[in-house]
Amino acid sequence: MLRVQNLTKRFGGLVAVDNIDLHVREGEIRGLIGPNGSGKTTFFNLISGFDRATSGKIEFMGSDITAGSAHGLARKGIARTFQHIDLFKGMTVLENVTAAAQCHARPRFWSSLLGTPSVRKEDQALRNLAMEQLEFVGIADHADDLASSLPYGLQRIVEITRALATRPALLLLDEPAAGMNPTEKQDLVELVRRINASGVTVIIIEHDMRLVMGLAETITVLDSGSKICEGLPAEVQGNPRVIESYLGSGGVGKKQTHAYAAEPSGALDVSGASQNPAAKGQDSFILSVDSLNSYYGNVRVLKDISFKMREGEFTALIGANGAGKTTLLRTISGMMSPRSGRVLYKGEDITGLSSDRIVARNLIYVPEGRGVFPALSVQENLMMGAFRRSDKEAIKEDLEYVFGLFPRLKDRRNQKGGSLSGGEQQMLAIGRAVMSRPRLLLLDEPSMGLAPKLVDEVFETVMNLHDEGLTILLVEQNARAALSVAERGFVLEVGSLVHEGPAAQLCDDPAVKAAYLGG
Ligand SMILES: Nc1ncnc2c1ncn2[C@@H]1O[C@H](COP(=O)(O)OP(=O)(O)OP(=O)(O)O)[C@@H](O)[C@H]1O
Ligand SMILES: [Mg+2]
Repeated sequence: MLRVQNLTKRFGGLVAVDNIDLHVREGEIRGLIGPNGSGKTTFFNLISGFDRATSGKIEFMGSDITAGSAHGLARKGIARTFQHIDLFKGMTVLENVTAAAQCHARPRFWSSLLGTPSVRKEDQALRNLAMEQLEFVGIADHADDLASSLPYGLQRIVEITRALATRPALLLLDEPAAGMNPTEKQDLVELVRRINASGVTVIIIEHDMRLVMGLAETITVLDSGSKICEGLPAEVQGNPRVIESYLGSGGVGKKQTHAYAAEPSGALDVSGASQNPAAKGQDSFILSVDSLNSYYGNVRVLKDISFKMREGEFTALIGANGAGKTTLLRTISGMMSPRSGRVLYKGEDITGLSSDRIVARNLIYVPEGRGVFPALSVQENLMMGAFRRSDKEAIKEDLEYVFGLFPRLKDRRNQKGGSLSGGEQQMLAIGRAVMSRPRLLLLDEPSMGLAPKLVDEVFETVMNLHDEGLTILLVEQNARAALSVAERGFVLEVGSLVHEGPAAQLCDDPAVKAAYLGG
């Protein structure tokens, strides 16, 4: 169905896709994996007409589509989802899906302006088609919800429904499970199987190995733009090159020595923390959250949240998508105001302060997914993290420290933030936070979009930061990994804190296991 020959894409001196051959059979589910920045998304961009190949050929159902436009290829039957969710936030779910279905409707500028009966009929038909897809996918009861009000996992499903609404023969999924918890991932696997059984060929990019290995019959592995391996999941998993470049030895919390772990950690001096007089006062809590209530419109998202964190503590916050974890971090960091309650930071009431003034106090929030400045270079983005600092020498050291943590960022230091791959942007967001020398770090899903080997490395980095005295509040869908590195855990359920305890204890708690650790 899809035959790709010698496909190459260059960006200046960088070869993002390097002479790739790939054949996909009709009816197949193909897995596409590889390290961050190995060219997976670029490959999707080429075969879906979102970008033009430098050389090579793409054939789809017998016709040459190498020079096809995105719109033209959608009509020919190729649909895709995006690594970063790309919904119309101000529209309802049904409107989002209807807009996508429109790609198959005839152009009809005048008649639609005049609102003729045939147009109204066609609109109704499109809406019916969209509704059918929502039912097929199992989210019809959310049809009238605003897309932006849905939890992350469901927004991903809406993205897939939008792609389905164009009635594709070939569906390209770019990291559909990113940010999903184990239960949502299970539902996703079933959905992809159903889509495939309905006659749609699927290519899926995914960093969750269990998921992609369980779904795909054949896996193709890219590294630095080239195809390095292709075969059955078991063959690929055992391939030394794949292990070396992508899977890693896989042991979060094992304290293995990665390149950066050998570096002197002095670059990040947070030892002054305990000398802070406020912290020494009657209470040594760096953060106290007191009966916090936050709303989106009329919806109460945080319900009387209270907890405290000691200086230097490492706490994981886990809970289903939509439980309110991100809202809690946003409220603490001043991105949104609570309706009632208080946030005390080092004894000072910071409730309602602007996020700028909170950042100035070295309370740093790293949002999930992107958050990089697209028009600035990698290095400029990193320097933005340090813009309040004047200690030039130390800033230079910290920059080298970050480049040591993420050598990829060093290679790309002059590239624009917006053109980085998904995983590279995530590295940049974490690196920028490190550059600001935080005292309290709020991390929202740092592992999202990262290759397995890098997930281990990022967790190790976070552990190292903690060893150096930093106080960390970590939000993760990957609850097992989070609890294996943190000391303490909180569980948030529909806006309320329902469990709290030592991380190891939560890991063994049957209720927590069943709900958040995938059984
Ligand atoms: N417009 C561009 N200009 C320069 N370099 C680019 C551009 N777009 C992508 N790149 C680079 O090409 C490489 C491949 O990027 P791509 O997005 O395809 O990676 P990926 O395999 O999807 O990675 P991830 O798993 O992190 O999403 C990256 O190193 C990226 O920085
Ligand atoms: Mg990508």
